This record gives sequence, C-alpha cells and structure tokens, in this order.
Amino acid sequence: MPRNWHPIAAILLSATTTILAVDNSWHPPNLSAINDLDHNLASDGVFDFIFDSSLVPDHLYGQYNYCNMPHVRKREYVVAPEEYELVYVEVIHRHHKRTPYQSNTFPVELDTWYCDNAQLYHYGQPSVNEEQNSANTFWQLEDNPFDLLLASHGNDDGSGRGFPGTCVFPQITRSGLQDSWQHGHDLFEVYHDLLRFLPDAIDLKKMEFRVTNNVITSQVAGMVIAGMYGEQRGVGVPLHVQKTGIDSLEPQYHCPGGRSLFEKIRSSDASSPWQIHLNKTKDLIRSLDNVSGVPEDNPDWHTSYDHYFDNLSSRLCHSKPLPCKQQDVPDSGCITRIQANSIFRLGQWEYSRLYRDAPSSLTTSVALYGVFIAELAQHLRDQIAFLGVNVDQTDRVLYRHNVAHDGSISRILSVLQIERMVWPGMGAEIAFELYHKEDNAFFVRVLWGGQVMRSSNPELGNMEFLDVYRLLDYFDSLVGQGATSVVELCWM
Ligand SMILES: *[C@@H]1O[C@H](CO)[C@@H](O)[C@H](O)[C@H]1NC(C)=O
Ligand SMILES: *[C@@H]1O[C@H](CO)[C@@H](O)[C@H](O)[C@H]1NC(C)=O
Ligand SMILES: *[C@@H]1O[C@H](CO)[C@@H](O)[C@H](O)[C@H]1NC(C)=O
Ligand SMILES: *[C@@H]1O[C@H](CO)[C@@H](O)[C@H](O)[C@H]1NC(C)=O
Repeated sequence: MPRNWHPIAAILLSATTTILAVDNSWHPPNLSAINDLDHNLASDGVFDFIFDSSLVPDHLYGQYNYCNMPHVRKREYVVAPEEYELVYVEVIHRHHKRTPYQSNTFPVELDTWYCDNAQLYHYGQPSVNEEQNSANTFWQLEDNPFDLLLASHGNDDGSGRGFPGTCVFPQITRSGLQDSWQHGHDLFEVYHDLLRFLPDAIDLKKMEFRVTNNVITSQVAGMVIAGMYGEQRGVGVPLHVQKTGIDSLEPQYHCPGGRSLFEKIRSSDASSPWQIHLNKTKDLIRSLDNVSGVPEDNPDWHTSYDHYFDNLSSRLCHSKPLPCKQQDVPDSGCITRIQANSIFRLGQWEYSRLYRDAPSSLTTSVALYGVFIAELAQHLRDQIAFLGVNVDQTDRVLYRHNVAHDGSISRILSVLQIERMVWPGMGAEIAFELYHKEDNAFFVRVLWGGQVMRSSNPELGNMEFLDVYRLLDYFDSLVGQGATSVVELCWM
C-alpha cells in the first residue's frame, strides 16, 4: 500500500472509474521512409538524424540525435495554460552514452577504449554511523597477460574475450556522464526554476529516483541528481531498484508468453517481413563481416542489425573513426559512412517493425512491459486519490525519475502507439505530467523528447491534455489494475 494512502479516497476513486468502452486496439503507425522497407533501402543518409555528436545547435534542438536525444529543457518547454495546475511528474529515460556491450564488439578488438577519465564508484557503508564511513573507492580496471594474448588472437565464443584498454563493457563514458548531468540540470531548470514545482533542496519524501539492475543506470542517476541538486556529499540519495529477475523497469520479469510473441515478429519464415529485410540486405551484411571478422554462421550478428548498429554508433558518438580491417590502415578495407548509414536506417526499420508495425506488437509490449505500465497507472491513481481528499500533503511524492534502457522506452512508445517509431537513442525521454483543473478534473500531458507525443490510436491522439481517466481506462483495459492481465499474457 502506498504511503499516505487514504481509504476514503479509494471509495471516491472507485466511484469515478467504472471502465468505459475504450478503443484499445492496435492502430498502425504512419508510413514513412523509416518503416517502408523499399523506401528505406533506396534512401541515403539517415533522414535528418544525427549520429556523430552529443551537441545539437539550438535551432535544431528537438531533432533525433542518437548520441543524446532531445529532452525537456527550458528553451523549448511550453508552459501549460494557467488553469492547469501541475501536480505530478514521472520521467523515464534511457541511460546516456556508453561503451558498447561486450557482445557487440568485434571478435578481434583492434581499437582500444580508455576510460581513465571516468571513475566508477563501488562501496558500502553502515547506514547510520558517524564514526565509521567508507572511503570513496572506485574501480580501476587492469589487464592481465592472458587477457592481452586473447586480445591479439581473437575469440568469438562471446565470453572472456580480451580487450586492451581500461573501460568496462558497458560503462557510461566521461562524455555520457556529462550528458547525464546536463539532462538533470535541464529538467531542474524547467520543473524548479521555471515552474517552481520541485523543492529548493532535495526532499526524498517528495522525490524518488529509480534504476535497473544494470549498473550503468546508477552511473547516470548519480550525475542526473548532481545536475539537479549538486553533489549531496554525506547525504546519501536512495536509488530505488527491484530484484534481479523480476524488475519491471528494465524489464526483467519472466514472461514466456511475451517472449514467444516477440520472437514471432522476428520469424525466419521466408515470407515474414523480418526475413525479407535480412534477405534484401545480404550483400551489406557480407561486406561488413569481411571487415569485422564476424563468422558468417554467427546468428547473433545476422538475425538483426542490432550488434552492428551498437558497434558503429558507439564509435561515431565518441568521435572514433569507423573500423578498418587493420587498425589505422585504410587500404585494408574499412566500413564506410554510407554503409554505416544503411545500418542506422535499417535499425530504425527494425525498431518500428518490432514495436509498432507488426500487428502483434501492441500485445507483445503489453506482455513484456505491462507491469511497469500498471505501476505508472497506480501512481496516477494514487495522486488523484491523494488530492481528492484534503489531507496533509507534505509527504506526497511529486516527482518520480526512472533511468532505464532502449527496451524500456520502446515498449512504452509501443503501448502508447506512437505515430512515428524510432530507435530511442541515448537519454531518450518520456515525461508524464499530471495536471489538475477546477472541479476535480485531471489531465495528462505526455512529452516525448520534450514535445507533445501523438498516438495513432484516436482514443489517445494528441496527448496534450488527455483526460486522465481516458488514459487510465486505456491502460487498465490492456494490462489490468495491478497487472492482472499481464500475468495471463505471460503464462497463458
Ligand atoms: C501522421 O499522419 C497524420 C494523418 O495524416 C498526420 O496528421 C500526422 O501529422 C502524421 N504524424 C507524423 C509524425 O508524421
Ligand atoms: C531468404 O533466404 C533464405 C535463405 O537463403 C531462403 O530460404 C528464403 O527463401 C529467402 N526468402 C526470401 C523471401 O527471399
Ligand atoms: C566494433 O568493431 C571494431 C572493428 O573491429 C572495433 O575496433 C570496435 O572497438 C568495436 N566496437 C565498438 C563499439 O567500437
Ligand atoms: C573483403 O575485403 C577485401 C579487401 O577490402 C576485398 O578485396 C574482398 O573482395 C572482400 N570480400 C568480400 C567477400 O566482400
């Protein structure tokens, strides 16, 4: 039961939330060069998307930038009309720039990633103890001789490979940490400086921060909070986290029904759109393998463009050149920017297919992300209940901030049926703002990259000031209050 939950509020609430007939069916996204395969393959460049720097000039802000997606910030923020009073904000975003995952690095790593310019802290200390506190210890990675031998021989079993350099794969890089700080700072300039909504000093009864079991989200959260309220030396800010294997934010909960639906979208049947996109781009895959040394029979690299996308985008976002067969030997054969652009376009096609174009994508995302959706719906319900009765509001949670992954953001976009699906880049953000208007009316504004999100489902449409009950009915009809329908989808 949430803190400060009030039984009278529950009675008031149940009287106003009889589930109405709501259109919860799948509506296809708009057709564009992203999801129309022939159009996609015939394009060059990557639409107007940016892939090679975190920086975007002000006049272009809002444009897709894989290295650092747009978010809520003061310069572009549209303040709601006066009659709308902001009462609750829940933000969720992908972590910021990182090194690639180990599984997305090539068999022989010629290139070296150094991370001496970033420190990853690991320590524990007794919770209330003024005498004995921990030192600020951090990890400094070293190589060993065996590791270096493996690095020069290559090893494609996907485990224990040798990587020269001092980065953890993955870790947030120094520039990714700086982007995280700026992200927190930009949000603070809106929700504190401009709107006077957040408290002047961090108040852990009014604000909650949540991360996943993947430590990179904690690396980001620490910088985000410092960008908002400074370092908080000696205070300690809890990062809420759910148990491994059950976490709804990443997501990690076990859902065989959802997994099998997801795999069906990536079916290898000759007639499936997924297989057709792979067949049509076989020459591209072959020429990339020629440079990377990835064996032709390695399924991980050849059933989607995910690994090549991550490998190449991580390099470009960190101003590293595209890889060559031999390091710094251009004649040895290199991946060209034209090839990289094809991969980036195909990556967009894949995300649109998985999360929006496949007719089963909605049900799949409801199964695999419905638990988080149910939690979000409950947060909104709790707010209305809390505000509906005039109890003391000092401990009401005003603001929740979740640091997550592309798989988290994609599935929310999928459930909300966004009109134009893209691969959520680094820092990609969705903000849910709950507003109160006179006569106990509540509205939700959903911001994607700082701008009002539009859904293909007419029930949601332009999510500017959407009646909260319409959104809640939509969520409930899909996931069930308390995620009851998700359990059925996962285990049916
Ligand atoms: C999608 O199509 C609708 C109807 O034609 C249009 O109003 C809307 O602007 C389009 N949205 C995007 C993101 O292209
Ligand atoms: C795609 O390639 C596979 C394997 O070469 C083949 O079995 C399948 O028929 C092809 N599908 C299409 C649509 O060309
Ligand atoms: C990607 O592959 C290249 C070529 O082997 C390698 O140098 C690089 O470190 C790999 N990973 C990333 C993300 O750069
Ligand atoms: C592989 O790359 C080399 C050097 O760039 C080139 O000569 C060769 O034709 C390529 N092989 C394939 C199968 O693309």
